[in-house]
Amino acid sequence: MPRYRVVVVGMGKRGVHHATAFAANPRFELVGIGSRDQKRLDAAVAKLGGVTTPGGLKAGTDARALAAELKPDVFCFCTPPGVRLPLIEIGIEAGAKLIAFEKPVAMTSAEGLAIKHALDKTGVKAVVSHQHRYGDHYQKVKSIVASGAIGKVYTVYGTATGWAAHMLSHLVDYTSWFNEYEPAEWAMGQAAGRGKLTDVHASPDYVAGVVHFRNGVRGIYDCGAGAPDVPEVPYWWRKCRIGALGTEGYAEVHTGSGWRAVTKDGVQAGPGTMDYDHDMPPYVQEMADWLDDDAKPHPLRFARAYHGLEIVSGLYRSVIEGGQIALPLAGGQDEGIDEIGGLKAKVPERKVLMPLADSAKEYKE
Ligand SMILES: NC(=O)c1ccc[n+]([C@@H]2O[C@H](COP(=O)([O-])OP(=O)(O)OC[C@H]3O[C@@H](n4cnc5c(N)ncnc54)[C@H](O)[C@@H]3O)[C@@H](O)[C@H]2O)c1
Repeated sequence: MPRYRVVVVGMGKRGVHHATAFAANPRFELVGIGSRDQKRLDAAVAKLGGVTTPGGLKAGTDARALAAELKPDVFCFCTPPGVRLPLIEIGIEAGAKLIAFEKPVAMTSAEGLAIKHALDKTGVKAVVSHQHRYGDHYQKVKSIVASGAIGKVYTVYGTATGWAAHMLSHLVDYTSWFNEYEPAEWAMGQAAGRGKLTDVHASPDYVAGVVHFRNGVRGIYDCGAGAPDVPEVPYWWRKCRIGALGTEGYAEVHTGSGWRAVTKDGVQAGPGTMDYDHDMPPYVQEMADWLDDDAKPHPLRFARAYHGLEIVSGLYRSVIEGGQIALPLAGGQDEGIDEIGGLKAKVPERKVLMPLADSAKEYKE
């Protein structure tokens, strides 16, 4: 079996997680790491320097030069959400077979569509890190929903107290998974609170909305300062409730504390929490599986994440334009817009209302 050569760029929290997971998997050879920040690079080299890379681990501050020199099979980058297309281009130029990058796909549909065009044109595979799904509690809920134990699914839902650029693509991805990635036909949403519109993870403080999927299933999303508490979960960032309602019951995962299902056989519940160390190894392994065999596409492939971006963009455009937004966005001449710019012009000045006192620590403005 070939070992796939990997370069990881961006040595923040997630870049180090990715580099560590690739280095630990015998199907990959971590050949390079990059960061613009020399201090972070030095710290990462110290952490990863002992990896079993025959040629040694190359470290550099210039991502383009590093990728051009090492020509990796896998180009991975973990940068802030506003930094996407230039790194996709670096990966493509370096001849990568697969590009792995962090959620969200992009901050605007304009950039998301440009990424899609670049990948479609070259046929380079890509995956986006919505890796929470590998949690045992997520897997359990998926298996209950897929088994038919809750009957025919008619609604999927996701709530999170964290703001949208952090959390909404996760909610959309896992609910779409519960709904077998059925295409969305329209979205309608509202937003409140301007404080996070200038954050690195630029978002309205609160966005809520509905999505209609082709199979009749309704998606309900409630993300940010106005979202309800998830009292089952103590840790604020993991207060996410993601589930499915069916004709015979429901099943839902709580990101920071397990899962619950009610079916005609009664109430079931179990433990589980989001855990990077647990979730990253299968995520990278399935990259090797896809590189080995085109017939084994990665479950977190770009096409699915891009569909999620369209849903998020649809909710934002509904705030900007009013009314329902037909999906997919790029059906005709649509080359995407700057939704964040549109939200800045539209979201009212009024401070967001917060049902959860703890949220005030995060939403100060
Ligand atoms: N999947 C998950 O569970 C999860 C969890 C946390 C964060 N994230 C996402 O991961 C991404 C990175 O988050 P993080 O917490 O690792 O951030 P971070 O701030 O810790 O690290 C970002 C890194 O990118 C580098 N960088 C910034 N601009 C760059 C540029 N123009 N070119 C090259 N490198 C640049 C920085 O120097 C830094 O090393 C974000 O999109 C975030 O939403 C995902």
